[in-house]
Amino acid sequence: MSENRQPARILVAEDEANLRLVLQKELQRMGHDVRVAPDGEAALKLLEESNVDVLLSDISMPNMDGMELLRRVHQRPNPPEVIMLTGHATVESAIEAMKLGAYDYLSKPYRIAELDVLVKQAAEKRRLRVDNARLRTLVERQTTTPEIVFVSDAMKEVLRLVERVAPSDASVLITGESGTGKELVANAIHRLSQRGEGSFIDLNCAAFQESLLESELFGYEAGAFSGAKGRKLGLWELADNGTIFLDEVTELPPPLQSKLLRAIETNSFFRVGAVRKVQVNVRIVAATNRDITEVTSDGRFRADLLYRINSFQINLPPLRERPEDIEPIARHLLARLAGQHAPELTPDVLAALKTYNWPGNVRQLRNTLERAVLLANDGRITTSELPPEIVSPALSFRSVVAPGGGVAPGGDTAQGAAAAAVPPPLREVERQQILAALEQTGWHRGKTAEILGISPSTLYRRLRDYNLTKRQ
Ligand SMILES: Nc1ncnc2c1ncn2[C@@H]1O[C@H](COP(=O)(O)OP(=O)(O)OP(=O)(O)O)[C@@H](O)[C@H]1O
Ligand SMILES: [Mg+2]
Repeated sequence: MSENRQPARILVAEDEANLRLVLQKELQRMGHDVRVAPDGEAALKLLEESNVDVLLSDISMPNMDGMELLRRVHQRPNPPEVIMLTGHATVESAIEAMKLGAYDYLSKPYRIAELDVLVKQAAEKRRLRVDNARLRTLVERQTTTPEIVFVSDAMKEVLRLVERVAPSDASVLITGESGTGKELVANAIHRLSQRGEGSFIDLNCAAFQESLLESELFGYEAGAFSGAKGRKLGLWELADNGTIFLDEVTELPPPLQSKLLRAIETNSFFRVGAVRKVQVNVRIVAATNRDITEVTSDGRFRADLLYRINSFQINLPPLRERPEDIEPIARHLLARLAGQHAPELTPDVLAALKTYNWPGNVRQLRNTLERAVLLANDGRITTSELPPEIVSPALSFRSVVAPGGGVAPGGDTAQGAAAAAVPPPLREVERQQILAALEQTGWHRGKTAEILGISPSTLYRRLRDYNLTKRQ
């Protein structure tokens, strides 16, 4: 055991005042950090407030005795090691305590040297336990972070950029269509950075209204508005020493754009209703599927803010521009969805997947496979388990569109297929698709997004664009 470790943090629960004082003094003399409590209840309260390595507990105490304290301590996450201190009358309970998970017991009178050895061993045991838990979560995190699968040159270039920019603190703007993997890449940048151990906080700027978004981002003080009972920390503060991912960043309302700009420029911000500033150290990774020059030139997004967040830009190509990635990604997703029992893809299915143009990109591919896995028989996915528009894209277009430029209201399709269809405006088709999906799910947004193969945030934006925020 190494002697140059930090002192062990010890809590002594003992109702006899003299003994308590002696224990405190002796343990401090040995270099430990010692707190004391006169009964079980007080000890439990101190445990709530501080991190303790070893608890030394008498057995008979008022309010809450040592046995009950031991039980309660073991209900808490990451408990300290417990050493029971017993008089003659309680030796049997001490043995019982060992069964309940106490580290050891000492019967009175004991020698201080004995106590010292035992405390050090218990503290070491706890440290190992904590280190192990930390290692385990680290390993888990590494194995559960999703992998980016690719073979295309376009994605090789993306990954080269990711590796180059990650270690710096530069802010990064990731652009690309919905479902191309922007969030995945943002996460990779964080993990490969020096902040990888810090938190990765994700905020969807399109998913809240302005006032909610502000308190979500910057937090608030008690009494900042009616209903603000206590202080709430915002995501910006929680991302301190880590990375904040501002998804759909161009959807930030203008007043928040200026607040964000100020926060970035000064490395500090105000909680809503606060008078003092909070200092933070946050790296920004932002994403958008909008055309960035368009939204800045029409004034929806501040050019000076854009300049701050796109020190480095990474564009993710749509899946249809890298068809060679489709098969490896599909196999990877299948293995993730169904593990060892993943069904096979017939050659027809592979051909259809490779030729389809994937407007919803990898997310749509994942949804398609998820559905196919559920429907598949005999461990094979055939074209019957794929949605019709993927098997024969041309066919599905005719089935949505009615002749004469309108959208079939449902029914009048008699002249339909024969007549040369003049396609209606794409927006109208999209609006109708969204409406149909909303109806199908009883206006459940999450399920609707799933059906359509788009992210909830993309759906929210469309709902706003098409004025579909209320049930019609
Ligand atoms: N190259 C890839 N390899 C493996 N999985 C991928 C890849 N690209 C995307 N995915 C998966 O596809 C899904 C969609 O990706 P992601 O959420 O990162 O897209 P996005 O660009 O953020 O989409 P949106 O703009 O709609 O929010 C996720 O489940 C992601 O893990
Ligand atoms: Mg996303």
